[in-house]
Amino acid sequence: MDRLPGFRDFYPEPLPHKDLWSADLRHHIFSRWRATAESYGFREYDGPPLEPLELFTIKSGDEIVGQLYNFVDKGDRSIALRPEMTPTLARMVAAQERAYKKPFKWFSIPQLFRYERQQKGRLREHFQLNCDIIGETDSAADAELIALLIDSLRALGLTAEDFVIRLSSRNAWQDFFALRCPDESRAYEFYQVIDKIDRTAPEESDKKLDELGFSGTEVRDFIAAGKPTDELKSIIDNIGARGLGDFIKVDYGVIRGLAYYTGPVFEAFDRKGEFRAIAGGGRYNHLIKLVSGGKIDLPALGFGMGDVVLSELLKARNLVPEFGNRIAVFVLIEDEASRSDSLGLVQFLREAGVSTDFSLTPMKGNKQFKRASELGAKFTARLESSQPGAARVQLKNLNTREERTLAPEELVAAIQSAG
Ligand code: HAM
Repeated sequence: MDRLPGFRDFYPEPLPHKDLWSADLRHHIFSRWRATAESYGFREYDGPPLEPLELFTIKSGDEIVGQLYNFVDKGDRSIALRPEMTPTLARMVAAQERAYKKPFKWFSIPQLFRYERQQKGRLREHFQLNCDIIGETDSAADAELIALLIDSLRALGLTAEDFVIRLSSRNAWQDFFALRCPDESRAYEFYQVIDKIDRTAPEESDKKLDELGFSGTEVRDFIAAGKPTDELKSIIDNIGARGLGDFIKVDYGVIRGLAYYTGPVFEAFDRKGEFRAIAGGGRYNHLIKLVSGGKIDLPALGFGMGDVVLSELLKARNLVPEFGNRIAVFVLIEDEASRSDSLGLVQFLREAGVSTDFSLTPMKGNKQFKRASELGAKFTARLESSQPGAARVQLKNLNTREERTLAPEELVAAIQSAG
């Protein structure tokens, strides 16, 4: 039976086929994401993958609502698999914000589901690093968040030559819109056209803009001028002071597709323009109020970075590390009479935090040795004597071929000192 289209299986390395998804690469990405977010003082949270349908229809916008996996459950509730994390975060914050000093910085790595048309970089599920700051209106928070986005990508080996953050502002676009169109209710429709302007034929965009009372030329001139607002200037200065100025540029071609954004918005793209957006985010100062039915009013901002485009980019830039096996020691049991004492040795090593494997069933000595090297073990260990108080273990370094006979209590230091 095949898996559903747009869903992935993740296999351990080495992969049987290069088109498969690697569980090791996923682990690598998640651990760099987590380490970088923690280095910025972000705390991890999580929520349920299923939510009331209504949570996403409130304010995410038509595009994402059209992509929902939703159904009625056995209790007659209308529910949806989460297509994004931000509404869940808003709900969680509204419920417990009093317990947290503002501003607070949270991150999560949820799996998300969108019934999208499958294309390069877009699947029907993906994992997304979400980092959000709650309770701060100052643009220093926007800069902090963008710096974290930059460093999360740098932690995976990407440089300013590989990617750029395109910074824009919904406020700037809102002013542009309000000057020319009095009908505020059509603003989101206008933003949708701008969001797709790079990916749409000019005639098609011009037609839609015309219907809204805008000319394609004035919109393109505004994008081309790229005049930063004071707010964007202060974000850029803050990022520059961190030495990260090369990673960011003002680009009003970005406006973001989701409906809830209210201020500065941004997207990360590869410099060569080969891939879809790596990440996107911005301010959403009214969402928590909306989700809490007006009870809690807190400013917020955040970004989401998906694993799909990122994995493709890392592969294209040769930044996927070699994933060796993680076994440090293979315990050889050549004499079945020593199996129970050898199990004691396996347990001793594992409890000391040394990754250890062995043959579960009797196996010829040379086969065990072969298995040790297939697993990429750094050492083999063989119990030479299990005399109480005088146990001895022969430890062999499979790289240097050096052999030593040690007491069990000396083993761990010898293994760890070999790195
Ligand atoms: P988004 O722009 O919809 O934002 O998604 C963020 C990133 O997730 C995209 O740039 C892309 O890398 C990845 N992504 C989105 N959809 C797919 C898909 N179908 N397949 C693969 N990757 C995908 C949000 O979701 C906002 N909630 C982010 C945010 C957090 N804003 C504030 N806080």
